[in-house]
Amino acid sequence: MVAMTTNSTFLRACRGESVPRTPVWFMRQAGRSLPEYRALRADVQMLEACRRPDLVTEITLQPVRRHKVDAAVLFSDIVVPLRAVGVDVEIKPGVGPVIAEPIRDKADVERLRALEPDDVPYVAEAVRQLVGELGETPLIGFGGAPFTLASYLVEGGPSKSYAKTKAMMHAQPRLWHALCERLATITLGFLRVQVAAGASAIQLFDSWAGSLSDVDYRTHVQPHSARVFAGLADLSVPRIHFGVGTGELLRSMAEAGPDVVGVDWRVPLDVASSRIGPDFAVQGNLDPALLFAGEDVIEEQVRRILAEGKAAKGHVFNLGHGVPPDADPGVLTALVETVHRLSAA
Ligand code: CP3
Repeated sequence: MVAMTTNSTFLRACRGESVPRTPVWFMRQAGRSLPEYRALRADVQMLEACRRPDLVTEITLQPVRRHKVDAAVLFSDIVVPLRAVGVDVEIKPGVGPVIAEPIRDKADVERLRALEPDDVPYVAEAVRQLVGELGETPLIGFGGAPFTLASYLVEGGPSKSYAKTKAMMHAQPRLWHALCERLATITLGFLRVQVAAGASAIQLFDSWAGSLSDVDYRTHVQPHSARVFAGLADLSVPRIHFGVGTGELLRSMAEAGPDVVGVDWRVPLDVASSRIGPDFAVQGNLDPALLFAGEDVIEEQVRRILAEGKAAKGHVFNLGHGVPPDADPGVLTALVETVHRLSAA
C-alpha cells in the first residue's frame, strides 16, 4: 500500500521534492463543519465514534470526497489513547476534553501505563480500511504531544493560563518529567499503531505549546517530543510538528526532530523558514478567520502564502489552525481549487 502513495504531492512536498502543484489539506477537516458529519454523529458520542471503524472510515473520507484535498487525516482525537489506557476522559461538545480525576501526584502519574496495540484494535482496523479505500491519497495519522496532553491531564480540562501545568513544571520538575515520559510513550505507541496499519505520515499536535517561553519549552518539553520523533525514525514516514502561537519556539520545535514544521498565521512562511533553517518543509498557514472574508481576500492570501512558502524546502498548504466549526464547506472546496490553480507550474 505504501508504494501507491509515495509519489503523492503531499508526501513529495513533505520530503522537499518537486511537485506539479502545492498539496493542501486542513487540520480538523474531518467533522465539525460538514453537514454529512453532523448527521452521522447525531446519536453517537465523540469518543464512542472514534471506536467504530466503519464510522471513522466514513467520516475521514467525507472531506476527501467533497473538497478533493491531497491527504486524509484520521478521524480520532488526541485523548483517544489516554482513554484506551484507562484515563476517565470525556469530550464535552463545545468545551473539549474533560478529565474526571486530574493528575496531582506520583501515584497518579504511575497509573498512566504504556499503550499496547491491543488497547486500540479499532484504530488499526480503521486505518487498514481507509488505506484500502483511499487509493493514492495518503492518510495522515496523529497524536498529541506530551505538553498538550499534560495540560489537559493536569488542568482537568481546557485552560487559558495553564497555571497548574506550569506550576507543576517548575515546582515539581521530577514529577513533570515523569508525567511527560509516560505521555511520550503512550503517544509513540499510538502513532506506531497507525503507521504499522498503513498511515503514510504523522502529525504531532502540540497545540498549546505556544503558551510557553522558549527556555521553558527547551527545558521541560522538547526532550519528550524529541523522543516521540526519534521513536518513529525507523518507520521512514514524514513527521509533522505543529503548535499555535509558536513563533518564538519554531527553531526549538524543529530541533525536536520532525521533517515538517507547521506554522500558524502569525509568522509568514519565509520568516518561519529562516528561523528553522533549510532542512525542513513547512506547513500552513492561512488564518482560519479569513475563511469568512470572501473569495477575493482568500485568493490574495493564497498568492502570498504560496510565494512565501517557496522559501522552504517544501510547502504543504494548510490553515494556521483547525477548520472553525461554522466554516462554509463550499469555501473550503473553493480554497483547495484556488491553491491547486495558483500553484500549478
Ligand atoms: O483534523 C481532523 O479532521 C481529524 C480529527 C481531529 C479531532 N481532534 C476530532 C475532533 C484531530 C486532528 C483532533 C486533534 C485534537 N483534539 C487537538 C489538536 C488539534 C488542534 O485543534 O489544535 C486538540 C487540542 C484536541 C482536543 C479537543 N477535542 C478539542 C479542543 C475539541 C473541541 C471541542 C469543541 O467541541 O469545540 C475536541 C473535540 C473534537 N475532536 C471534535 C472533533 C471532530 C468535535 C467533537 C464533535 O464534533 O462533537
